Amino acid sequence: VALSNEDLYRPNFHFSPKKGWMNDPNGMFYYNGYYHLYFQHYPDGNTWGPMHWGHAISTDMISWKEQPIALYPDELGYIFSGSAVVDVDNTSGFSEDSKTPVVAMFTYHDMEAEKAGKTIDETQAIAYSLNEGLTYTKFKGNPVIANPNIPDFRDPKVNWDEDRKQWTMVLAAGQEIMFYASKDLKQWELLSTFGEGIGNHNGVWECPDFFHLPVKGTDETKWVLLVSINPGGPNSGSATQYFVGDFDGKTFKIDETFQKELAKEHSFWVDHGRDNYAGVTWSNVTTADGGKLFIGWMSNWLYANEVPTEKWRSANTVARELGLIKGTNTYRLVSKPVKELKNYRAKKVADRAIPIRGKAILTTTETISLSKTEINFSISELVQAKYTFSLSNKQGDSLTFGYDAKINKYFINRDNSGKTDFSPKFSDRLSTAPRTARTKEWTGKILLDKTSIELFYDDGQTVMSEIFFPHAPFETLSITSDQDNFTLDALEIHELKF
Ligand code: FRU
Repeated sequence: VALSNEDLYRPNFHFSPKKGWMNDPNGMFYYNGYYHLYFQHYPDGNTWGPMHWGHAISTDMISWKEQPIALYPDELGYIFSGSAVVDVDNTSGFSEDSKTPVVAMFTYHDMEAEKAGKTIDETQAIAYSLNEGLTYTKFKGNPVIANPNIPDFRDPKVNWDEDRKQWTMVLAAGQEIMFYASKDLKQWELLSTFGEGIGNHNGVWECPDFFHLPVKGTDETKWVLLVSINPGGPNSGSATQYFVGDFDGKTFKIDETFQKELAKEHSFWVDHGRDNYAGVTWSNVTTADGGKLFIGWMSNWLYANEVPTEKWRSANTVARELGLIKGTNTYRLVSKPVKELKNYRAKKVADRAIPIRGKAILTTTETISLSKTEINFSISELVQAKYTFSLSNKQGDSLTFGYDAKINKYFINRDNSGKTDFSPKFSDRLSTAPRTARTKEWTGKILLDKTSIELFYDDGQTVMSEIFFPHAPFETLSITSDQDNFTLDALEIHELKF
């Protein structure tokens, strides 16, 4: 029996809306036992349309329960991307009956202005919730930031600056980032502007985020600025770049060692795959070791409106923990799935010192599902070879990915991964990412869902996330190398319970 579109493509453990269109994650905060996630949403169609904020909650950032729509477009415009904070000290004065306000800040996109041919069509506004983020009241004084005559002026991301006891907000403004501060979330003061002549400018800057992270193994703290850019990504289309530096409460100054490497590499990417865009972090939580929690939209504007799902479009990445390491020449962002994912491990096969002669089947769906799967592997002595993992099915679909040591590149090839002809942009290239780790040992974590693969290599130093749409579920996982026989030193495959 042929599987329905829903059965074939609805992810097992990545958030997707019940129906309708989704893009960027918005307004994530944590309160009273729940992680909140909002998202750019058009409930009445499954292509981009009048933007709402959809809403979902979770106790662990893995299993999500969709909630009623939180924000609807109104006469000021569509509700574009933004953020939300828990105003514990009632700095906004929105509290009533001593309830803690949650304050969302978002962009109004005025479609009427756009249709009239105006490029100045975006302002910033706020809304507050007194029922833990379920419903919001829009502030009567909106907009709180008028447009200073800048096109593409959007996506406010607010964070509490504990050192200065004020709110800091970053906003995309054309191809720059503007830093603002506020004491009450209503009145905003422009502090500084960042970005001219720095980083990748091959597209519009969108969805910034700004936070500090401890540098692992040191007592240093650095500030990280995320900037999504579309187009201009490393494998074309949408992607998210990052910058590391210092912040004095007013100005973000890029770190010298980072700037040097930037001059060589041109950009640093949160994820080198083609499908992780507009990702931002939860505003008010950190992990035990100071990491930030991140989630991204697992698609790309090149083909997001055409992917072959029927009832809904798009899913998010798995929620991730972001950290910072001091690499060979400068700081690097590292990502890994949130620790909560481990609680879903159900069934496991593991082996060590597996000799690979030619091509070897590592597992099949007779043993373990390949659409709700976590795989951890290591090869302790990389040689000058191309290592290729392959997922395949009887229908002849295959997705290949791995590492080519000869050119020092990770790759994903989805040319033959199933349905690809819905867009000429979907499989027009081989995605690659440079390997930045200098170690002889190659380790990786692979997360597989029905329509996505997320690769975390070298403890999360290089990440690649991509989507695919096979004609039937993948059944076999194999590995091969184009050089000699080799040893897969460790392999652990977990089926996750969903
Ligand atoms: C990024 C983006 C944002 C904007 C939103 C509109 O994907 O273009 O800049 O706020 O999508 O839906």
